[in-house]
Amino acid sequence: MNRTGTEEIEFFSSGPDDTRRTGASLAEFLKPDDVVALYGDLGSGKTVLAQGVCRGLGVTRPVTSPTYTLIQEYGGFLAGKGASDPPAEIKIYHFDFYRISSMREIEDLDPAGHFEAGGICLIEWADRGEMFLPESRLSVRLLRAGADPDRRRIILTVPVSRNIRLRS
Ligand SMILES: Nc1ncnc2c1ncn2[C@@H]1O[C@H](COP(=O)(O)OP(=O)(O)OP(=O)(O)O)[C@@H](O)[C@H]1O
Ligand SMILES: [Mg+2]
Repeated sequence: MNRTGTEEIEFFSSGPDDTRRTGASLAEFLKPDDVVALYGDLGSGKTVLAQGVCRGLGVTRPVTSPTYTLIQEYGGFLAGKGASDPPAEIKIYHFDFYRISSMREIEDLDPAGHFEAGGICLIEWADRGEMFLPESRLSVRLLRAGADPDRRRIILTVPVSRNIRLRS
């Protein structure tokens, strides 16, 4: 994860709403062809963070883990300071590699095609398909922190050049 030209942004979440806010804040910096890799144990909050990103991108449909399809597609709008008026539509491709049992299964999802389709890709259990991920990805690690069951440590690893500054 220590790729050159990246910086780490760390903060603590005190509950699901906090994590969603973080996701929505990150969404303001996202642009077409961004790949956001989500790492963390079962129940660490990857889907919750993805919900926040989707909310930030104006997705109105409920966002859940893509259980059967392995990819869920949502329609949203580019947010943030650089957004056009009216905001440009963008597709969000939400992957979940948890149930993947072979690399072939990931290949069949055509990750490269999705990563360059002009949308934004969110990938849960990204470590299970690390070799398919582009170097330019944005990574988010979620870790339980301390005795409080609602507390999470969230670490983003992002290209320095993106100048990402999240609202806390
Ligand atoms: N600070 C927090 N941030 C995110 N989720 C939290 C937090 N505190 C408690 N939770 C709870 O933890 C759970 C996180 O679930 P979520 O589905 O997002 O995990 P996940 O990492 O996607 O798991 P899976 O690996 O099964 O896909 C939810 O029930 C949520 O309410
Ligand atoms: Mg999940």
